[in-house]
Amino acid sequence: MTNQEAEERVLKRRSQMLEGGGADKIEGQHRKGKLTARERIALLLDEGSFVEHQPYITGRTTELGMDKNRYPGDGVISGYGKIDGRQIYMFAQDFTVLGGSLGEMHAERIAEVQMLSLKNGTPFIQINDSGGARIQEGVVSLNGYAKIFRGNTLASGVIPQFSLILGPCAGGAAYSPAITDFIFMVDSVSSMYITGPEVIKAVTGEDIDQDGLGGAGTHCMKSGNVHFRFSTEEECIEFLKRLLSYLPSNNMEKPPYSYNGDPGDRETPELAELLPENQKRPYDIKDFIASIFDRDSFLEVHADYAPNVVVGFARLKGHTVGIFANQPRYYAASLDINSSDKAARFIRFCDCFNVPIVSLADVPGFLPGVAQEHGGIIRHGAKILYAIAEATVPKLSLIIRKAYGGAFIAMSSKSLGYDRVLAMPTAEIAVMGAEGAANIIFRREIQAAANPEEARQEKIDLYKENVMTPYTAAALGYVDDVIEMKDARKELIRSLEMVLRKKEDRPFKKHGNIPL
Ligand code: HXC
Repeated sequence: MTNQEAEERVLKRRSQMLEGGGADKIEGQHRKGKLTARERIALLLDEGSFVEHQPYITGRTTELGMDKNRYPGDGVISGYGKIDGRQIYMFAQDFTVLGGSLGEMHAERIAEVQMLSLKNGTPFIQINDSGGARIQEGVVSLNGYAKIFRGNTLASGVIPQFSLILGPCAGGAAYSPAITDFIFMVDSVSSMYITGPEVIKAVTGEDIDQDGLGGAGTHCMKSGNVHFRFSTEEECIEFLKRLLSYLPSNNMEKPPYSYNGDPGDRETPELAELLPENQKRPYDIKDFIASIFDRDSFLEVHADYAPNVVVGFARLKGHTVGIFANQPRYYAASLDINSSDKAARFIRFCDCFNVPIVSLADVPGFLPGVAQEHGGIIRHGAKILYAIAEATVPKLSLIIRKAYGGAFIAMSSKSLGYDRVLAMPTAEIAVMGAEGAANIIFRREIQAAANPEEARQEKIDLYKENVMTPYTAAALGYVDDVIEMKDARKELIRSLEMVLRKKEDRPFKKHGNIPL
């Protein structure tokens, strides 16, 4: 073979590779409203930065005529590239090749980039679009999944991992994204479930379609399995790039610093307007967040799930922080099972990746109810306490108004591990609200009074003035300072600067046993 023939051969092989499952299959993918794996990679990575790794890998099964069905890449495209100049590793399953199903070599190709990503300390991005285990390959395919789950688990807490579900993700395949840090879905494109509608119909008799069972809306609002929902693939990919801008590449690095010039001493007098005088009137904690943190820097995580807690990333004078806030618009901001899971998971992510935590507290307590008790609120609520106590990143708290009972401890207790706790003058810190407290401890006096209603109000005021005031907590050192509302941003920035270099060690252990 001449050199020229050899060159022509490589070009031919390469063009075959770029065709995936062929023009018809690509057209089929587009007809379903989906982009191809290569189109997705082009949108995701900086132009010209993609280095494809092991593109010649192909299946080696001979059973059931599979030797006539060989494709370069074996249904997945993997490699390395850059996003806004930062290195990442990734794979994208190619649905045009055997439905993106996962066979032995497909799994080997994924496992290879997982390990390279881990060894090089870069974020890892997986784009899932697959019919699941390649049925023809049987147990070999299951073995491939096991290898991938292990890779996701070993990488957990070392490099951030992101899963974009851009097609079906059926059966046990869903457990790989589930182990990663953030999952994204797109309406009418993505679906994810362990057993599909037909199997469910056969086993339980329940009737449900694919979208109702495992579409983006279902997972973002009901199951809580998924963090971000989009209407197009393009929006989904753009958002991932924005999320990455808040995060370090691995657990040994600090998050990137990015300051948009919003003055650190900007006053926040609008907070006094935003906080209703009438305690029973709700307000939107997101307005507080918009006022306090760097202008337009808030990126909400898990927005559609357990909305009584708001979590997400923002910046304080350029530093990435993780916000964990109560939301009075839902359940009067009580903490329940789902919001505890949501908050604890987010706090643990922040701790893994050196993101300081800022809690904003206005919470009457954990949600009362038989369903909550029987559903295990004790176990789930404990996750927040565990996550905060375990976290060694800087932890700040701002008490806006109510901080009652166990929820005070979760949101604001220095003894649990918060480094600096600030209170606004409107803060109320106690075992319970003043009304409930007065009714219990002054019951006899209230009943015996000539005018019980008047007496009740007197006792409520007495409790508010003597027990609940932030100055009582500040006198004991449980609150480090009581600040003016207009100074909330400035004081949080000063507090963050105070603790940014904090180092805290823990005794050696394999890992803790968080209540799951
Ligand atoms: C082999 C598969 C496949 C699979 C799809 N294909 N899934 N080949 N193994 N798992 C092939 C199809 O035969 C078809 O080939 C091509 O991919 C495209 O599939 P379509 O069915 O035409 O596409 P669509 O109509 O979009 O439907 C997609 C789908 C459906 C919903 C994913 O293909 C499907 O239900 N597939 C089976 C899903 C499944 O049961 N997987 C196993 C789950 S259990 P041709 O040649 O006709 O184009 C599992 C266990 C893992 O994954 C456990 C790990 C612990």
